[in-house]
Amino acid sequence: MAKTKTIFVCQSCGGTSPKMEGKCRHCGEWNTLVEQVQKPQAKRSTFAQASGQRNSAAPVRLTDIAAEKGQRVSSQDDELNRVLGGGIVPGSVILIGGQPGIGKSTLLLQVALNLSGTILYVTGEESASQIKMRANRLKGDGSNCHILTETNVQDIMTAATTIKPSLLIVDSIQTLQSPDITSTPGSVSQVRECAGELQQFAKATGIPTVLIGHITKEGSLAGPKLLEHIVDVVLQFEGDRHHTYRILRTIKNRFGSTSELGIYEMRADGLREVSNPSELLLSQNEDELSGSAIAAALEGNRPLLIETQALVTKAVYGNPQRSTTGFDLRRMNMLLAVLDKRGGLPFGQCDVFLNLAGGLRMDDPAIDLAVLSALMSSLRDVAIPATVAFAGEVGLSGEVRAVSHIEQRLIEAARLGFTDMYIPATNLRGLSKQPNTIRLHPISKVEEIYERLMT
Ligand code: TYD
Ligand code: MG
Repeated sequence: MAKTKTIFVCQSCGGTSPKMEGKCRHCGEWNTLVEQVQKPQAKRSTFAQASGQRNSAAPVRLTDIAAEKGQRVSSQDDELNRVLGGGIVPGSVILIGGQPGIGKSTLLLQVALNLSGTILYVTGEESASQIKMRANRLKGDGSNCHILTETNVQDIMTAATTIKPSLLIVDSIQTLQSPDITSTPGSVSQVRECAGELQQFAKATGIPTVLIGHITKEGSLAGPKLLEHIVDVVLQFEGDRHHTYRILRTIKNRFGSTSELGIYEMRADGLREVSNPSELLLSQNEDELSGSAIAAALEGNRPLLIETQALVTKAVYGNPQRSTTGFDLRRMNMLLAVLDKRGGLPFGQCDVFLNLAGGLRMDDPAIDLAVLSALMSSLRDVAIPATVAFAGEVGLSGEVRAVSHIEQRLIEAARLGFTDMYIPATNLRGLSKQPNTIRLHPISKVEEIYERLMT
């Protein structure tokens, strides 16, 4: 009989070590090694071996392979279809990560309730009656949705083989366990093994599989980075739990682009797709208030107009405070330094707060110009007209740099009734078509914004 072997596995990176060590020799994390008994290889049974489908593949000429075209299945959810690149590909494995309570289970139960084929929803986290309560809340019919409370990955595959669902949902990958491995559910080796087996199962049967994954405090998917390599698509569900908006982002997609983005609103009766985000993200405020500016941003391939709000007040205590929501704090500090140096504006003695409406987090550099204008507007207490939008990236020497897809931003601003837009002068040259209802104000230096709007 082969001897069983003990190894120590890092719960952070998945690296192994032959002996117990305080610090992982691969990633340098402390106290992450966990003892694990490795069973002899021969005893392990993967799904492919168990079902006798193991036959070696022969190389095939690329031109002889038939492309599987038009096979995507619509998820009946426009936002999800968009981030997946048009629908669910048969045999693919999709991983959805997100913080606890963000709405992962809600989103997938909703998908399960809306699809017409048979769905197998496996849960290791909740009881069947809890799912029933949620389904009632979502007002779904659910006659073709089967619920299985199970954590053994092989039993799940057996059940799926019997029911032959058109979609398999597993909530969550961290609760699964494979009998082949001794370590506890949620540990690196279990997560890796279960995901690997489900991946092989999906490929062998063509049943698309959605895995829900937890994320760690730092915001990355729990379990090894390897999990992201195993699956075909990685989606991240994010948003501020205290706000109603939720964003579904693609981190990896083997079948489409990763620049897409889905926006949802969490309501009392489930998640609702938001097809017109700009209208929700602009305040309905009729009065013009200082400290507010509208950015024509682009998230993925979608233009959306978002309100940036700044509050600049005299610092009462020693150290001035700086805080942001939805915008990078370091980037705001950089913009403040630019305003200080180029415009001589005295932000040094002020508390500065910055907020993007709706609890969204944005990385588009084109928001810079709106943020900078909101900061100036609050400092000088001069309101910016509500019909003005901004797009432009600000460089360290106060120059306004060109942004991508300026036409799309202009069209969206014009559609929402904006009449004036401040854009980088360099963008004006390459501009092919522009809506004639919007006046363009080319800007090349941040000082020009101050001259035109604050004086
Ligand atoms: P849930 O989907 O369980 O989150 P996750 O699986 O990501 O941990 O629930 C998310 C939150 O959404 C929960 O706190 C309650 C709220 N919620 C609604 O506001 N409306 C609804 O219809 C449902 C089902 C949940
Ligand atoms: Mg859940």
